[in-house]
Amino acid sequence: MKTVEQLLEEKGSEVYTIGPGASVFDALGIMADKNIGALLVTEAGKPVGVISERDYARKVILKGHTSKELKVVDIMSTEIVSARLDQTVEECMAIMTEKRQRHLPVLDEGNVAGMISIGDLVKAIISHQQFVIEQMESYING
Ligand SMILES: NC(=O)c1ccc[n+]([C@@H]2O[C@H](COP(=O)([O-])OP(=O)(O)OC[C@H]3O[C@@H](n4cnc5c(N)ncnc54)[C@H](O)[C@@H]3O)[C@@H](O)[C@H]2O)c1
Repeated sequence: MKTVEQLLEEKGSEVYTIGPGASVFDALGIMADKNIGALLVTEAGKPVGVISERDYARKVILKGHTSKELKVVDIMSTEIVSARLDQTVEECMAIMTEKRQRHLPVLDEGNVAGMISIGDLVKAIISHQQFVIEQMESYING
């Protein structure tokens, strides 16, 4: 199974970020523009949280707030559950399941090295299973 480093080589290591003082409205605008579901929140280049569509749904809409009145810092998740470059896709899937996270920032010695989502992991797992099936078919068919 692939490592996070291999995954990032394929999907790229660019990470979309926002500052904690920005409005939730602006965060949603970036997510819509980039067609993604979460942003890493950084301050002076260091990760301080993650803001996701789920945070918006649960902490803004359901509580009767608006995205223009609240800042990213008001609703971001401050427990940063991250992955390392040497971890495998399976290990990351286990982390996401246990911690109920759909996005993991990738940290390399404290520096931001990428972002992976549950969709990236599912894609890698399906592709690995397809490879195994083809190997077995080729073995059976001689
Ligand atoms: N075909 C593919 O390569 C692929 C990969 C991932 C997801 N998807 C599909 O997209 C849909 C939503 O995916 P999701 O729930 O995994 O989350 P998502 O929409 O947040 O992620 C989509 C892609 O954007 C990337 N991404 C997300 N936030 C990022 C950030 N802040 N900085 C940099 N990259 C970021 C993810 O790593 C992923 O590659 C699903 O239907 C999924 O199947 C397809």
